[in-house]
Amino acid sequence: MQKLFVTGGAGFIGSAFIRLALARWPDAEITNFDALTYAGNPDNLKGLDDARHRFVRGDIADREAVLAALEAGTDAIFNFAAESHVDRSIERADDFLRTNILGTQVLLDAARERGVRRFVQISTDEVMGSLPEDDSAFFNEESGYAPNSPYAASKAAAEHMVRAARHTFGLDTVTTRCGNNYGPRQFPEKLIPLLLSNALHDEPIPVYGDGQNVRDWIYVEDHCRAVALAYERGEAGGIYNIGARNERRNLEVVESILAALDKPRSLIRYVKDRPGHDRRYAIDPSKVERELGWQPVETWESGLAKTITWYAENTEWISRVRGGAYRDFYARQYGAEVGAK
Ligand code: NAD
Ligand code: DAU
Repeated sequence: MQKLFVTGGAGFIGSAFIRLALARWPDAEITNFDALTYAGNPDNLKGLDDARHRFVRGDIADREAVLAALEAGTDAIFNFAAESHVDRSIERADDFLRTNILGTQVLLDAARERGVRRFVQISTDEVMGSLPEDDSAFFNEESGYAPNSPYAASKAAAEHMVRAARHTFGLDTVTTRCGNNYGPRQFPEKLIPLLLSNALHDEPIPVYGDGQNVRDWIYVEDHCRAVALAYERGEAGGIYNIGARNERRNLEVVESILAALDKPRSLIRYVKDRPGHDRRYAIDPSKVERELGWQPVETWESGLAKTITWYAENTEWISRVRGGAYRDFYARQYGAEVGAK
């Protein structure tokens, strides 16, 4: 029996990871510790009534709550919990500092106090900044830190706290850095779910700047398998960049999805650019391929088809998340530019 403590498990990637973990490790008992912020969604846990999954509502920056939830001990912590949206961090960074930095430190301290065997930090390629547009440069594990947004800076700070816990206290840590995830159950503030949910409602699609920024897309389950491998086989103190060698310009992503849904290009609205908008992300995944034997299962075409089908079939899920926090943010972010409802 192994006890796993997963933070942020009611979010997009965390909930996919819990599904994968329950199937991959039949001996695993999982505590899912999540504050249920606007991005945490109990609907994401539907179908997870497995007796090996226990949900605890709590804040990773609340030391007492974390220690209490870990009282019975745990073998590993997977830290998915975060404020994850770049545009929100530009609007106001406080919650990003509290959850992403302080929350990570609280979990690291608790890991030491409770004798946790391995700490897995879920990080992002954004800690390495932005690449030039020519195709010869890639992020690898030797790339330096150059976070450009408040979100990226908070995730870089969290990586430094993880590194410090390894160096100072000998905690067994592994850090994974992934590119842009897509797939079922992603909150529709991020590009792909936003454009899917707007297109399905025949609403305008906001495209920032010239639409030529490049992101390196990966299907969420492929990311989660890499995290599982990093836990099973990763070197203590190791960092693993995870990417599916799938660079796409934003406009190409938007046009592919509109075409797949048979929706017109006239839904596209060019809006003002994101301040400090990173131009290109591109990951060299050689290390995770070579050392952990990881390869993505989904192609861009198969992953996108699965994602589109999921959103088209789960209109109730979309309707529910398009209320409250989503509407408020959407109206502030895009206002009259795309005729926010
Ligand atoms: P998400 O916003 O969908 O989910 C975040 C989850 O964390 C939510 O369930 C939320 O309720 C929870 N949470 C937030 N603050 C918390 C707190 N203080 N205490 C406990 N729970 C809290 O995010 P996501 O897209 O699933 O991202 C998960 C992780 O993966 C994050 O660490 C993110 O930085 C990282 N990441 C995301 C991507 C991506 O493309 N989405 C890529 C690389 C890395
Ligand atoms: O690279 C990994 C990161 O990917 C993660 O660490 C973040 O948590 C995740 O949010 C994501 O960050 P991005 O800023 O790249 O994702 P987002 O979906 O917000 O934007 C993707 C690209 O699309 C980016 O160039 C901005 C652009 N965009 C985004 C939105 C929401 C638009 O043109 N229009 C939009 O409406």
